[in-house]
Amino acid sequence: MDRQINPFVFNRPVGVEDLIDRDEESLQLLRLAEGGHAVRLSAPRRYGKTSLLRRVGDEAEKAGMNYVEVDFYGVLSRHEVAQRLEEGYEKLRSAPRRIARAVIETLRPSVSLGAAGVRVESRPRTEEQVGRRLSGLLDLPVHLYQRTGTRTLVAFDEFQALLAVDPGIDGLFRSRIQRQGDAASYIFAGSHPGLMTQLFGAHERPFFGQARSIPLDPLSDPDIVEHIGARFEATGKEVGRAVDPLLDLAAGHPQRAMLLAHHLWEQVPVGGEADAVHWRKALDDVLAEQDDALRATWDSLEVKEQAVFRALAIGEPVFGAWTREHLNLSKGGAQHARGALAHAGHIRQRDGVWRPVDPLLVRWVTDFQHNVGEDPSR
Ligand SMILES: Nc1ncnc2c1ncn2[C@@H]1O[C@H](COP(=O)(O)OP(=O)(O)O)[C@@H](O)[C@H]1O
Ligand SMILES: [Mg+2]
Repeated sequence: MDRQINPFVFNRPVGVEDLIDRDEESLQLLRLAEGGHAVRLSAPRRYGKTSLLRRVGDEAEKAGMNYVEVDFYGVLSRHEVAQRLEEGYEKLRSAPRRIARAVIETLRPSVSLGAAGVRVESRPRTEEQVGRRLSGLLDLPVHLYQRTGTRTLVAFDEFQALLAVDPGIDGLFRSRIQRQGDAASYIFAGSHPGLMTQLFGAHERPFFGQARSIPLDPLSDPDIVEHIGARFEATGKEVGRAVDPLLDLAAGHPQRAMLLAHHLWEQVPVGGEADAVHWRKALDDVLAEQDDALRATWDSLEVKEQAVFRALAIGEPVFGAWTREHLNLSKGGAQHARGALAHAGHIRQRDGVWRPVDPLLVRWVTDFQHNVGEDPSR
């Protein structure tokens, strides 16, 4: 067969068959769900949170639970939050879905048919009505439990997005959730470390200390090699030595590894083995394709944040003499900027060392310095 489909997916959550490792995390999440515990899954963007949630959801269903996944990315109002919750319950398996639908129907604002046959709400919704609808939707696991005796695992993905809605919404969530006992278990997943910390780590907030935290670490090189090698082979290609620079660059970042593998695979003819030329070409393609996105990320940073990121990208101590001299960073300025970068998830601390999260941004920044010979930020 000389036309194969590229086996490396990099732009959407992946199925169990494409998920590298994460066995321990899956098992742990499932056990905690079965035990009725709340968990927060905090990891950078593109680290496989949603993919992992789906795997755990599958396993939870096999273990006899219902699984509901709600993505709050980009929500702006309580009305939208309610819509997202309804969409989540629409994806239940058929029997519990029927029960959920019936309850959801009773929570809808009353509607009538307008002149042109369009559904119009008979009266404007008051805040109280929206609140009641939301409470009802959050209580759905209780209805399911009463009717079927099965626990529902609810995964709230991009949970931190709720903070954009209004300051009281996490209180409303918590007030409903805390009374559900055996009816539900919750996983709160989020990409934004600063906002997740605000929700779960601030004394004055309702979710303070409410959920165990499960982190997602970078993938190990042997796991990545095995996965990439097997997929090359299954499609009649060999990855060969070109996998080494790929591993070096990806540094365990799951999506970056798959993105690079996808492009490397494109370069290699069926029956061939990847070499240095293929790798070079693949990397050029990746950088060209991602240029706009990387530049947009870079431009979103303050000048001092760019300076700290650059220092970390080339491995210079943030508070060292070189940084002070070349990047014009005072200690206070550096500390503040480092905090902001960490808050937004551009860098994170592992084993006591601060590192950039996205190795491709590191590459882009260092290439940029190299080519232009000066600071892109000024
Ligand atoms: N464990 C993994 N194994 C293989 N690919 C992964 C893994 N985790 C993440 N990815 C890659 O990252 C991409 C984004 O995954 P996703 O689950 O959407 O991440 P997140 O929800 O954290 O942003 C996937 O398309 C895939 O290429
Ligand atoms: Mg996701």
